[in-house]
Amino acid sequence: MRVTVIGAGTMGSGIAEVFALNNHEVLLSDVSNDILNNGRKKIEASLEKFKEKGRIKSVEDVLEKISMNTDINAQESDLYIEAVLERIDVKRDVLSRIRSDAIIATNTSSISITYLSKFVRNPEKFIGMHFFNPPPIMSLIEIVRGNSTSDETTKKIVEISRSLGKTPVEVNDFPGFVSNRVLMAMLREAIIAYEENVASAEGIDTVMKLGMNHPMGPLELSDFIGLDVVYDIMNVLYNDTGSERFKPPITLRNLVYAGKLGRKTGEGFYKYK
Ligand code: NAI
Repeated sequence: MRVTVIGAGTMGSGIAEVFALNNHEVLLSDVSNDILNNGRKKIEASLEKFKEKGRIKSVEDVLEKISMNTDINAQESDLYIEAVLERIDVKRDVLSRIRSDAIIATNTSSISITYLSKFVRNPEKFIGMHFFNPPPIMSLIEIVRGNSTSDETTKKIVEISRSLGKTPVEVNDFPGFVSNRVLMAMLREAIIAYEENVASAEGIDTVMKLGMNHPMGPLELSDFIGLDVVYDIMNVLYNDTGSERFKPPITLRNLVYAGKLGRKTGEGFYKYK
């Protein structure tokens, strides 16, 4: 199958890697060659780890499956996956520029699939395919049907997800779907606990790791997701529901304004080397 992945950031590069690992021909697209090269480096580093673990024989053979281009229509594909910033204006621009009648999936974390379907040529062929970070490791894909998504499109995406070795779960088009509705409420409460000095960042994370058996604490996880991404998702949920339980905390906003976006910039709630 030929697949176009638009956005070569944290998620797009990982999604491109997943398809390449499964022998599909991938076009990875982003706004500049520098960003694409960074995406390639991330994929290469991840593939090196797979090689060390003996899960693949050759990094080059997998990398060869991925071509890169700033033109999102450079390859005629069977599936397009949008993984650009969590902003409606950016997604609208990208989705409306795809010149194809193939299925288009969005990796959005929180924006309504029904709303985004207004920007594509065939809303019945538009669906949410929500991967988790990092896509090559995480086995869940949340499949989100918009109001116009056809049964055929859903069936196809469920089949593709299984063929990638993932577990698809079908959910309906509600703000944050299942994953971010539950997760964002928890991350927000952890950030407010930090603001109020209930405990240090390490203290909050250790309580949640050892007490609730979470593999990562909520502040550590926020840094891992990217604080700008967390902030954008909370804003979408807050606007869509009007509920205080998603209102972005000021500490989060200020970290984002300061460019401290978590692991990807070397600092967020924690500092990274
Ligand atoms: P990111 O900031 O790492 O990457 C976004 C990429 O989109 C950047 O490389 C940017 O240059 C590119 N981009 C912006 N405008 C573009 C355009 N017009 N054409 C092509 N590329 C463009 O963000 P990340 O974390 O990869 O998130 C992408 C999407 O995935 C968002 O919708 C986010 O909500 C979702 N998501 C993020 C997860 C995470 O843990 N970070 C998990 C699951 C979904």
